Amino acid sequence: MTEPSGDVGALVAPLVITGGGAPLPRRGDELGRPAVLRDGALAWEDGALTYVGPASGLGASAPMRLADTVTVVPGFVDAHTHLPFFGWRADEFEARLAGRSYRELHADGGIPRSARLLAEASDEQVLAFCLPLVREMLDVGTTAVEFKTGYGLSVEGELRQARLARRLGELAPQTCTVTLLACHALPEGIDRRRWVRLACEELIPAASAEGLADAVDIYVEDIAFDLEDLESVATAARLAGLPLRVHADQLGPSGAARRAAQLGARTADHLNHADADGVRALASGTTLALLLPASTFLMGAQVPPLRELIDAGAPIGIATDFNPGTSPVLSMPEAIAIGCALYGMMPYEALMASTANPAWALGLDDRLGTLEVGKRADFLCLEGDDFRHVPYRPGHDPVLHTFVAGRRVGGR
Ligand code: NIG
Ligand code: FE
Repeated sequence: MTEPSGDVGALVAPLVITGGGAPLPRRGDELGRPAVLRDGALAWEDGALTYVGPASGLGASAPMRLADTVTVVPGFVDAHTHLPFFGWRADEFEARLAGRSYRELHADGGIPRSARLLAEASDEQVLAFCLPLVREMLDVGTTAVEFKTGYGLSVEGELRQARLARRLGELAPQTCTVTLLACHALPEGIDRRRWVRLACEELIPAASAEGLADAVDIYVEDIAFDLEDLESVATAARLAGLPLRVHADQLGPSGAARRAAQLGARTADHLNHADADGVRALASGTTLALLLPASTFLMGAQVPPLRELIDAGAPIGIATDFNPGTSPVLSMPEAIAIGCALYGMMPYEALMASTANPAWALGLDDRLGTLEVGKRADFLCLEGDDFRHVPYRPGHDPVLHTFVAGRRVGGR
């Protein structure tokens, strides 16, 4: 993990949504009830918050005073992206509009195509492609971001992508983590079980020994890996001391959400086809249901059972799934807007699902995700007298200022 260092300052604002005060991950009624300060203030030193409370109690002199039309919230934590990648696949988007399916395109396009593009690019080309994207994420409010492998498709290729992810994390102003998506697509010319064995016996231990991974992920799908492979990857992750994450029930139902929850995975992601058993398992465990509404929107996919998940008590997160195939969307405000309009999430639920809960999923909740004394001064000044303006105005950039560790590093 790579973390920024910080600065000193203070602000007062008509509305500060701190998001603190509830056990994490937030679930049920607590999801949509973040702590709110009217006429609130923040102060920070060395990049960490030293005061969060009423403006009347702020000791600091000459704080920044924000207008009535500005809301302060914790920085967005994007816990599911497929950076680093190299190149776009807009032609596949167009082909899908013309009637071809994602599964069909997987043969000559899809993940294997992104793997080829990555393999053919130099490290410097990949970083030069990705860094402006990460900076653009900062401008639209992402102050912590998860990167993934999964376009390496060989032991060496995956390790290279993980090293590139670590380097990208060092260059980015955000806090960055890396997930080893060891089983994403089957490399050409190798039997599936043999690849899973290689991933479990060589790749995961090697990545862990080199400190390249903060979690391990697997794509469970009919075009990718199955529940038996999930068991193997879960065991290898446990042996390496790394949290498990699962791409679950995205294109079709496989029972992966249920099994991910039973295995104590940190997240089960996508969940478009999660069934009642999956919902029940997620509600009774500690696995975050990490929803990716931008990919659902762009794929014209089935909407996950969002209200069932919330009502049953499952903890919820939202992320972009930023990748060149299913979700070329890097903006958390856009993902939140789609999550509200398409999934029926309420604005404050979406805010906690984009800050406190994903910080918990990445194991960063001791320092990120809410505005509380001792945590890093990562916050956003948003246009609008309430957070609901973010989902209400999709396409409008609401982020006036992005602060990381108390320093203004982005915005418009
Ligand atoms: O999360 N589902 C698998 N992986 C990605 C898509 C990757 C790609 O198409 O390049 C996803 O949607
Ligand atoms: Fe994904």
